[in-house]
Amino acid sequence: MSGEEFAISLGDENKASLERLGRLSAAGEAPRELTIERLLRIALKNELEASEVAAMWMSTTSELDVKLAFARQTGDEARHYRLIADRLKALGVDADRIDPREGGYSPLFDYLRALQSTVARVAAGQFTREGIALVRNQCFIDFCEGLGDVETAALYRDVIQPDERQHHELGRRFLVLFAVTENEQQVARDAARRTLELAEEIQEMARLKAGISRAPGC
Ligand SMILES: [Fe+2]
Ligand SMILES: [Fe+2]
Repeated sequence: MSGEEFAISLGDENKASLERLGRLSAAGEAPRELTIERLLRIALKNELEASEVAAMWMSTTSELDVKLAFARQTGDEARHYRLIADRLKALGVDADRIDPREGGYSPLFDYLRALQSTVARVAAGQFTREGIALVRNQCFIDFCEGLGDVETAALYRDVIQPDERQHHELGRRFLVLFAVTENEQQVARDAARRTLELAEEIQEMARLKAGISRAPGC
């Protein structure tokens, strides 16, 4: 398979899992205690983790165009963090007192940070994780609109989602360039699969523990 063919086939494989994740995110009645504020706090954690992983990868990736893409992503996710914190403030939450590192980093963060190869990083962190973010964020936008919070919905739809789409597209472009041997394609496929599994486990845990679904991605 060429890199191009591989990127298409991995996209198809991810699609089924992403649709399931989207259904899980939107499943059931949202519990009354599930507020936009609560979901935005989770979003802060996701943005911080996405920024931090990209920053670590930037310094340890040798391919120049990938290095620069991670640098860009580091900044974008940090900007999302600030925008969400500002939105929380507008909703009356003292966002400066929130430290999303409380309670530790997620298993997905631990998995991603340990990835060494460029092809695994772009498959897991950009192509797949950002694909997950696009699906989750859309569920969250629908949830906000259902509650009449048009401002939070607009922040996600008009500002955050275009960036996440760009990160996902960068992942696709790098897969075309770097997933060109059978071995690299297997590494990429395994990394994408594990990322989806971890995202689904986190989603299920959050739902069981706290009734949290509809949380945005990164
Ligand atoms: Fe992102
Ligand atoms: Fe983000």
